[in-house]
Amino acid sequence: MGRQVLVTGGTGYIGSHTVVELQAVGFEVIIIDDLSNSTADVVDNIERISGIRPVFEEFNLLDLGRLETFFEKYRGIEAIIHFAAFKSVGESVEKPLYYYRNNLVSLMNILDCMSKYNVPNLVFSSSCTVYGQPDQLPVTENTPKKDAESPYGNTKAISEEILRDVVKVARELNVIALRYFNPIGAHPSALIGELPRGIPNNLVPFITQTAAGIRQQLSVFGDDYNTTDGSCVRDYINVVDLAKAHVIAINRLITSINIDRYEFFNIGTGKGASVLEVVKTFEEATGVKLNYKIVDRRPGDVEKIYADTTIANTVLGWKAQTSLYDTLLSAWNWEKRIRNID
Ligand code: WQD
Repeated sequence: MGRQVLVTGGTGYIGSHTVVELQAVGFEVIIIDDLSNSTADVVDNIERISGIRPVFEEFNLLDLGRLETFFEKYRGIEAIIHFAAFKSVGESVEKPLYYYRNNLVSLMNILDCMSKYNVPNLVFSSSCTVYGQPDQLPVTENTPKKDAESPYGNTKAISEEILRDVVKVARELNVIALRYFNPIGAHPSALIGELPRGIPNNLVPFITQTAAGIRQQLSVFGDDYNTTDGSCVRDYINVVDLAKAHVIAINRLITSINIDRYEFFNIGTGKGASVLEVVKTFEEATGVKLNYKIVDRRPGDVEKIYADTTIANTVLGWKAQTSLYDTLLSAWNWEKRIRNID
């Protein structure tokens, strides 16, 4: 019987990849997910990859009564990785209360139950969006946070403040927040990956759907930025490398006693890549010519952001391993499998 970890949002994109990596090192995983942005067959595919079927309970974390019943049932949980949140930047602008309620009340319900049921360790899924457009690059963990560009981003910033304040009074609580840059790619098996509902907001799923013929053409949102080729720069992090950072964080919480009880780490590659570089690398990696056009800037986009990963590399002992080339190829292999393309 492995050490029990609860993964909220565990059938989602990053959550499912993290479940696989937790199982690979012997953790017993329990998933809570409301399937608002994923499907139950992800549990089957996790089992196909790892040979172990995680426990899966389907409900929304806003239902505190249901969550307490869950913790009454599962008494052995030592740590929680909290992914469950709505994450569409655009939708959050249209429905701010929907986002604030879901993302913040879910976290508060989790924290209430951790206190009530003596679960001491939490890894929180945060985002580089808390930095806004940084004045200096690369971004370190001490780069001043700026007003988020969207209600989604603001829920991440507010969540970090909630965690900071709760840790001060809940002496048994230990928290690590991982600030993701741009997660992309898919598991090498192509059995799990990113499957956005409707028209993809994010660049890489839009690229793979364009390559698969589902989308007619990729729109590149602006080539008049102050960057090498005029298109925006991001730090694209392989989703499996990102998943492994969560396992390291969980182990740090479970085994370490001398850590600052609230730590946060930038999880990126430390390298920036422009949109047009991603397009070019995708074409090189896959041999597929992409149909794209340059259009106007997308409101709210920051021009350039990429991580200083020194702290994650030295304190957490984690470093990104996978190249942009291999990561984009993994995304294409996943797209081909789910669309039955040879
Ligand atoms: C990347 C770049 C676009 C689509 C957001 C959230 C972040 C995280 C990841 C959830 C930008 C350009 C995109 C397209 C394009 N979200 N682009 N054409 O905006 O950096 O980050 O998603 O966890 O918190 O803020 O990611 O993939 O949307 O955009 O040109 O069709 O690709 O302008 O420069 P973003 P993205």
